[in-house]
Amino acid sequence: MMTIDLEQLLSRMSRQDKLAQLQILWRRDPQEARALARRGIGALFWPQSAAATNDLQRVAVKESPHGVPLLIGLDVVHGQFTIFPTPLAQAASFDPAVAESDARVSAAEARSTGVNWTFSPMVDVTRDPRWGRVVEGFGEDPHVASVFGAAKVRGYQGKSMRAPDAIAACLKHFVGYGAAEAGRDYNTTDMSRQRLRETYLEPFRVGIEAGAASVMAAFNALNGTPMHAHRRLLTDVLAGEYGSTGPVVGDAEGVAQLVPHGIAEDEAAAIRAALIAGVDIVMGGADLTADGSTLVPADGLDDDRLDDAVLRVLRLKKALGLFENPYVDEGTEASGPTPETLSAAREAAERCVVLLRNEGDLLPLDGSRRRILLTGPYATSTDHLGAWVQHFAAGAGTLDEALRAAVPEAEWTTLPGADMLDRSGDAIAEAVAAAAECDVAVVAVGEPSLLSGEAASRADIRLPGEQAELIRALAGAGIPVIVLLATGRPLVVEDWIEQADAVLLTWHLGTQGPEAIARVVSGAVAPGGRVPMTFPRAVGQIPIHHDHLRTGRPARTGGSLAGKAWDVGLQGPNNTDDTYTSKFLDLPLGARFEFGHGLSYTSFAVEDVAVDRGSVSLAELRDGTRLTLRARLRNTGERAGDDVVFAYLADPVASVARPVRRLVGFRRETVAAGGVVDVAFEIDATEIGFFDDEERFVLEPGAIELTVEDGTSSATVLITVTG
Ligand code: GLC
Repeated sequence: MMTIDLEQLLSRMSRQDKLAQLQILWRRDPQEARALARRGIGALFWPQSAAATNDLQRVAVKESPHGVPLLIGLDVVHGQFTIFPTPLAQAASFDPAVAESDARVSAAEARSTGVNWTFSPMVDVTRDPRWGRVVEGFGEDPHVASVFGAAKVRGYQGKSMRAPDAIAACLKHFVGYGAAEAGRDYNTTDMSRQRLRETYLEPFRVGIEAGAASVMAAFNALNGTPMHAHRRLLTDVLAGEYGSTGPVVGDAEGVAQLVPHGIAEDEAAAIRAALIAGVDIVMGGADLTADGSTLVPADGLDDDRLDDAVLRVLRLKKALGLFENPYVDEGTEASGPTPETLSAAREAAERCVVLLRNEGDLLPLDGSRRRILLTGPYATSTDHLGAWVQHFAAGAGTLDEALRAAVPEAEWTTLPGADMLDRSGDAIAEAVAAAAECDVAVVAVGEPSLLSGEAASRADIRLPGEQAELIRALAGAGIPVIVLLATGRPLVVEDWIEQADAVLLTWHLGTQGPEAIARVVSGAVAPGGRVPMTFPRAVGQIPIHHDHLRTGRPARTGGSLAGKAWDVGLQGPNNTDDTYTSKFLDLPLGARFEFGHGLSYTSFAVEDVAVDRGSVSLAELRDGTRLTLRARLRNTGERAGDDVVFAYLADPVASVARPVRRLVGFRRETVAAGGVVDVAFEIDATEIGFFDDEERFVLEPGAIELTVEDGTSSATVLITVTG
């Protein structure tokens, strides 16, 4: 097989040919798309079929100046046809195999249709559920985002991207997009360089280490510089320090938006600024295949940078095997799920469900409550796919169908109860009246997909419509209430949560969502998910996350609206243990549901937490010495179940304020009733060190606390780092 000589190909290309390779465009009209391919564009959005893709590849190979095949891109975020749970739901599984399974199935389906490049995984860390795009990422913790992002890269790219079931991954959005001020999409981000390194850059570092083939620049300005023009981070850090060799693609119109960002006079200046900074492929904007050399004159961009960008694109095409074979076999094109992909999607979905409350062990339904009222807008809704699915995605069924099939012995009554978004008229009263004839109410409520994802920031993150009223009305109807909560993001649930006896967090679980939920409700499978992103008590608490820094006045008690009995001006700030501490007067302490929260149908205990050595020197750490933190997880209940064990590190005294705890490891384990499972976590300099505000990685002597916990029990061991 001929191996293409990319340097030789590059040497034959004119400046205009090179610039044409540095763009991806979308054209609905096939003739317009063919014209772009004929003029040598580098990439196109997927034209919706294998045949149409092959046609465009044929034009590119046979009619363009140098016969360079096309990258064919699409947002395959959590499924192409078979839809898996949203990425945030996947994070709730705390099982990276769930993400890898999604990516493997997605890559096979997508590549069979001609897609060879996905704009996924999104590894933006975020602590603000007002931001609709939290649904696309893996929550608030950088370690979780790193582990899940790497799992998706492995799943998409497989052992070789030449394979017919592999596609190129794209880590996005570089960087800091999830820190948009006020959770308002596309808004400014501003943070310390210490936080930039430890929280927002870390998942990209790990994703590049995992072999991610490309990166997408973020829309936001970071500390005053729009990311599409951020040379230090795009070139010096991402390429120089992390060693990323793949192309950086701009986000949709992100290059052109340097003009409204106010750092480019016009689009030509914006294109030059972005290419100089380290963007390699311009997504959207002015057509470079027609006007490239005009928009980017020779004095606007030096040849070395131009050639570097083109080689990044050509190397990716070579890694995908496109020079040998740019076509896909139309005879094997996927057009929908198979029994195997549906089974994989259902297994993934089951692992993402989080049991938030279960007063009186009301769940699983055990047949003792025969007459069941099923109500709420999600009882008969098919809206389980979540944000970022394409119109050809395989739809979901309904909870009504799935629950009746899973619990056939029950006598089901299904009523609307409330509208998803609007006022509910008599529906609530009808549901309450029906409750009088039932033994338990299952209330299926939630945030619809249309309120989730890009450009879907919400200032009020409670249940929309009158769904909360429905829950409260049924709570007063004299029967137990089980709430099934579908959502793209953490919601504020204070106005009903304590009136619900049991609550299952069911996210948007994809094509097999209702079936997965029904199996958890019936007890066929036990819930094992955990909260990957904190549920605040009020929007006013945001940003809120588990690994917050210490303060000088940590609060130990909640707020109070009772007036103070003294005048601080005369008697000084009394009571700095209680009143004068960091809290809200009108809220109890802490979140409604903390990171890592989740119940099970059994119970567990964490035992025998130990570390293999009590001390380690700085020199040993620098040489790569690892410590092993061990624990034993015991199932103290009557049925098998999954538990998630978390390993946290705390550095009580350091040269900069450190988080109250940092997640350094997690494991999800299935433990038989009465059984035990041993877990171990490797701790080394990566976990013990930290970045200072000069972005220097620092290792310091001192005490380190290592805690292993599972939300119900925990134990801490100390180690000493010696000078
Ligand atoms: C969107 C999103 C990005 C996506 C791109 C292409 O605006 O920000 O995540 O990959 O456009 O659809």
